[in-house]
Amino acid sequence: MKTRTVKIAPSILSADFTRLGEEILDAERGGCDILHVDVMDGHFVPNLTIGPPVIRWIRKITQLPLDVHLMIEDPLKSLEDYCKAGADWLTVHVEAAPDIRPALDWIQASGAKAGISLRPRTSLESILPYLDRLDLVLIMTVEPGFGGQSFMADQLEKVRRLRSQGFNGMISVDGGVNSETASVCIDAGADILVAGTAVFGNKNRAAAIAGLRGAR
Ligand code: DX5
Ligand code: ZN
Repeated sequence: MKTRTVKIAPSILSADFTRLGEEILDAERGGCDILHVDVMDGHFVPNLTIGPPVIRWIRKITQLPLDVHLMIEDPLKSLEDYCKAGADWLTVHVEAAPDIRPALDWIQASGAKAGISLRPRTSLESILPYLDRLDLVLIMTVEPGFGGQSFMADQLEKVRRLRSQGFNGMISVDGGVNSETASVCIDAGADILVAGTAVFGNKNRAAAIAGLRGAR
């Protein structure tokens, strides 16, 4: 039995955007720990979502930590806007710039928590040079861009390797996480489960969140 407490981070990508505030408060009442905000620019991924203005409004209605997953090219240009909007965690993709180090430096200097993510086809080696200074590694278990895709179990090897190497920060798993796939993520060593469809696709958010947390 694991003693580590897993944190649940609903991804608002699967919420009803016409009622976004109510959806967020419903997830908060349901007992989630973090709010996962997927930012997509239509270039780094073939989908377009929200930016700093919406995050600023979200910041006003909830105290939940905002975990902002930036699926955008050249994130350094806009980090300040996301930081000012109220992001607590800023996660950039290692593939999003030829050198991602300046973006990580900027995030850490700002006082926000710094995270890095990688596409399923990107090797773990690409992020190893940054590990000692990272607060979070976000392991993608789907191709970034859309909610509702199938979980890629082979990506959990990256979680196991990070754990066995003694990585000290948080490890998050994002994509296709539901009450069935959550337990393998927890067993691999994940601290945070990001779940869009599994939370917002279930009318009973408390049950959905409890189902993820208690998965075994
Ligand atoms: C995909 C996003 C995920 C997505 C997860 O690019 O990063 O956060 O919203 O959605 P589900 O849980 O439906 O796979
Ligand atoms: Zn995400």
